[in-house]
This record gives sequence, C-alpha cells and structure tokens, in this order.
Amino acid sequence: MTIHIPVLMNEVLDGLKLDPSGVIVDGTLGGAGHAAEILKRLGPDGRLIAFDRDPEAVDAAEALIDDPRATFIHANYADAPEHLVHLGIESVDGVLLDLGLSSDQLADRDRGFSFQSDGPLDLRFNPLEGVAAWKIINRMSEKHLADIIYQYGEERLSRRIARKIVAWRQDTEIKAASHLARLVRSCVPRSKKGGIDPATRTFQALRIEVNDELKWVKVAMKRFPQILNPGGRLAVISFHSLEDRITKQAIAADDTLKNLTKRPIQASEEELDENPRARSAKLRVAEKNPNSAM
Ligand SMILES: C[S@@+](CC[C@H](N)C(=O)[O-])C[C@H]1O[C@@H](n2cnc3c(N)ncnc32)[C@H](O)[C@@H]1O
Repeated sequence: MTIHIPVLMNEVLDGLKLDPSGVIVDGTLGGAGHAAEILKRLGPDGRLIAFDRDPEAVDAAEALIDDPRATFIHANYADAPEHLVHLGIESVDGVLLDLGLSSDQLADRDRGFSFQSDGPLDLRFNPLEGVAAWKIINRMSEKHLADIIYQYGEERLSRRIARKIVAWRQDTEIKAASHLARLVRSCVPRSKKGGIDPATRTFQALRIEVNDELKWVKVAMKRFPQILNPGGRLAVISFHSLEDRITKQAIAADDTLKNLTKRPIQASEEELDENPRARSAKLRVAEKNPNSAM
C-alpha cells in the first residue's frame, strides 16, 4: 500500500523516451508509482532496476509488483553502477531520480518527517545507517547547527533557531518532531497567509544533513552519465533549489550530455489541483550524446 502520488508522470515518461526493450534505472523507487508506469511501457525484453535507501519502500514494492522484468534493490542510488555490474548490466538506456522523500515516509509518525509527529525526529531514509536527527540537534555545537540550517535550509534566521535549540536542550532533550517544530515556530514568524510552515526550512536542512543528500546527488550526476548508452536519457526531479542547482550545473559541466530542458519542467495547473506537493517539483532531462564513447 502506498499513498504517494508520483509527480510529473507524463513529463517523466516523455523525457525518458522509453525504448520497449530498454534497461531503465529508477534510483528513487519510493511508492513505485513511476516504476509501475515505466514497466507498463517496457516490452518483454525491457528491464527495470529500482533502488531505494529505505528498506520499507523496497519491501512494499516487492509486495506490490510481481514482474520478472523488475529488480528492486535496497541501496543508495549512488552505488547503482556496482549493483548493475553484479546483475551483468554494464550500461542502461534511462535513469530516473525523483529526489527527496515520499508521502509514505512523511505519513509514518515514527520517522519524524512530519511536523505534527510526536514520534522521534529521526529523518533518516535508511533507519539502519547513520545518526538520527534528534541525536544531532542535542549534541551539535550552536555554530554548526546554525550553519547547517542556513546552508541546507536557506533559513535567514538560522542563528536565532540554533540559539533557541541550544538553550532548550540544556534542560530537556529535544526528541519529538513536533517539539522541534514548535520551537522553530516560536522564533520564526510565519511569512504570509497560506505560506509554508516556518519549520519547513529547518526540517529540510536537518534531513539533508542526516542523509547527506546533496553529496549523493553530486555523486550520481557524475556516475550515471558514465553508464548511459549513447542516446540514453537522464531525468531528475528536484524539490528545492539546492538540488536543482546541482543538477543543472552537473548537466552543463558534462560534455557527454545534451541538455534537453533549458528551463526545468514544472507541474501543470491540472496536476497541482490534484497534487499540491507537485508545486515545487522541477524536472530536468539530459541525453547522452549519440556519438560519445561509453
Ligand atoms: C519522492 S520519493 C520517490 C517516489 C517515486 N518516484 C514514486 O513514484 O513513488 C523519493 C525516494 O527516494 C529515496 N531516496 C532518497 N535518497 C536516496 C538515495 N541516495 N538512494 C536511494 N534512494 C533514495 C527516498 O527514500 C524516497 O523513497
């Protein structure tokens, strides 16, 4: 069961320009929405290899999709090339990265992605590795916390938030996601009516830090072009400017890639009516030059 609604579905399928007998990598399986539609368009010789850092996403996809053309792997997408070699696959025809978190992760009250959650502020995509966010905010220096919230959350009031966290934790450990959200809201004014929750940027910053998200996007943008067949497509959906900038710059810097989206593709009004989460989604697509060597 998944509650995640995939974004920019038609745009992704067009962008990947699927060859029915192609080998496609979905680096961010999530609720398997894109994966299932890709499979529908592949013929009997096509293959889909899908990755997720979250073991629950992989288990759910295995329960949902029983298809010999599909392989689901619990791993970081940055390690995809090694896993593919293991499967006897040296090159692929398409790669999709739909970055960030899924609605299934957001809805899981034990993982702390939601501001309302009284569960621990964990924020790890893979709960089996790394350090939970609540441990970080109770141990990190005020300066380091402020820097993270500023750089990864693009939050102007980062110093004020870090000061408040440090003052608070002297008495009581901050553990619940809802606790951190209340604390941030108490020192960041709501921007405008209907604007984002003041805690959004701080949660984003901690999630990026805990999962080292920007590093993996950079690694992926170097590695995936190397395993794309000539004419193969790379489609990346990002949900904030830091990831979008990395994607844009990586495509521009790679002379084996042709940029197919001068401006990122965004959701139509129809899609936004059905799925407000698509509002911040930006899709960039690049093609491996047909005459570039593998
Ligand atoms: C927005 S969701 C993907 C939704 C999916 N496209 C669908 O249609 O349901 C992003 C997923 O990427 C996973 N993820 C994030 N960073 C990852 C990484 N470095 N390697 C593998 N999976 C990652 C998250 O765990 C999450 O499940």
